[in-house]
Amino acid sequence: MKIAISTGGGDAPGLNAVIRAAVLAALLRGWEVWGIREGFDGLLFPERYEGEGLVPLTRERVRGITHVGGTIIGTTNRGNPMKYPTRQADGTVVEVDRTDELVTALRTNGFDALISIGGDGSLTIANHLAKKGVRVIGVPKTIDNDLEGTVITFGFDTAVSFATECVDRLHSTAAAHRRVMVVEVMGRYAGWIALNTGISGTVDAILIPEIPYDLQKVAEKILERERSGRHFSIVIVAEGAKPKGGEISVVSKEAGRAERLGGVGEKIAAELQELTGKETRVVVLGHLLRGGTPTTFDRLIALRFGAAAIRALADGHSGIMVALDPPTVRTVPLEDATRRMKSVPLDCDSMMTARELGISFGD
Ligand code: F6P
Repeated sequence: MKIAISTGGGDAPGLNAVIRAAVLAALLRGWEVWGIREGFDGLLFPERYEGEGLVPLTRERVRGITHVGGTIIGTTNRGNPMKYPTRQADGTVVEVDRTDELVTALRTNGFDALISIGGDGSLTIANHLAKKGVRVIGVPKTIDNDLEGTVITFGFDTAVSFATECVDRLHSTAAAHRRVMVVEVMGRYAGWIALNTGISGTVDAILIPEIPYDLQKVAEKILERERSGRHFSIVIVAEGAKPKGGEISVVSKEAGRAERLGGVGEKIAAELQELTGKETRVVVLGHLLRGGTPTTFDRLIALRFGAAAIRALADGHSGIMVALDPPTVRTVPLEDATRRMKSVPLDCDSMMTARELGISFGD
């Protein structure tokens, strides 16, 4: 078998661990593995890489990469091949489906199967390719943890662990200055990172996309703390959170890629300062959540996913995603995993725990 591996979308700690496990498990079976550079670009546009859009993934190439962040083959979250931005003669840009070219390129390069490591965007492309007859196995990656079909995606634990460490550090400076600190975290349209970080970092309010917020409620919580002698507060906000009856904060929108979110933390900090009369500062953790070495948990599931992807191919699967269903790794149809986004269920145990700890959701 000749297998292609692609890492697509935003990077997440653990990508290299998946690559290493998949390569070693494939080599053990006498199979050959190649990495496609930067999503599918290495295959679609080899000229951009001076003919080296495909990287041979040998034992030597994957040595010592388990703990390394990023991805050795690169990634991209622009130029989705299902909606490739293409300039027309009249100057307008329209989104064109170029997946047929991708199928042809996989065949001309002699690939028997594709392992696509990605989030909802990349796995939707993978599902589309599977329907066009490509043998595809998906591996769930995203710090956002917003993929259906798997209990958790790799990258999420590292993001939450780092965000929690940051919140821990903010407690002392917030207390020293009697300030309100607003911490904005990534997560796109799901509140998983904010929720888990907020609970473990013992913040006072968590604002998530699933619950449009009323800042008056958050201000009341801060002032109630003030009256009980707690002169500082920490509010964590997911980048996709929005006010009741208001809009999500979008930085930019471009053809062929998902809209960029951000800026909600600044808005909230300004309003809370106004409402509470307390000095307020904002910290945006942003891409810091995607960098660095994966936690032990993420390394383990990433390695297990990589090996499981090869096992799935050996077992004759296609059009599936490997998924964590503790204690095992199982397979789920890509169709099911990509049908809808996994939001935080409002009645889940973590939500109940947060409320029982007295954390406000601004509702
Ligand atoms: O999906 C992962 C993610 O980090 C989101 O949390 C965030 O909205 C987005 O990617 C940021 O993407 P970019 O790398 O384009 O800034």
